[in-house]
Amino acid sequence: MTHLYLIGYRGSGKSSVGAIVAARLGRPFFDADTVLETDAGETIRDIFASEGEVGFRDRESATLRKLGAGQPAVIATGGGVILRAENRELLRSSGFVVWLAAPAELLWDRISIDPTTAARRPNLAGGGQDEVKALLAVREPLYAATAHATVDASRSPEQVAGDILAVWNCSPWCRTSS
Ligand code: S3P
Repeated sequence: MTHLYLIGYRGSGKSSVGAIVAARLGRPFFDADTVLETDAGETIRDIFASEGEVGFRDRESATLRKLGAGQPAVIATGGGVILRAENRELLRSSGFVVWLAAPAELLWDRISIDPTTAARRPNLAGGGQDEVKALLAVREPLYAATAHATVDASRSPEQVAGDILAVWNCSPWCRTSS
């Protein structure tokens, strides 16, 4: 019951905002995708190519279990982590979950200029803004069902971090964990 998890679509700012929040809380910060790639010794794009999406999702669940069992931290998750029920249950039962929500158009603008997109985010449903819209239609109910709180991720990283700290500070989790 100790972690602060950030969930949301690629481009919502989980990694940049997570690093700010962790520094303010004096906690370690983990980007689950980075941990997964380090453990695997290859990029997410290469894992998708060699093992398919199922192989990647198995690794994603294993990474989440590992981080969930570790020291209290701020943890940025991959955009599709909420697709598996086991992940949703682990997130909700081992920490406070914040959804960084933003409109598809803004997410696509950020994704398309992000230099890490090629290695980190293989196309899952044709690519482009249409993919963002199609996947958000499926995922938004799952982000909503998993999150304890939602913040507006269309603002600057510093503003979003401030909003996350505000909801964290009035959550039961912050009073029961260091
Ligand atoms: C994915 C998002 C990526 C990464 C993988 C799958 C998704 O994470 O986990 O490429 O299904 O949306 P980010 O949200 O950190 O880009």
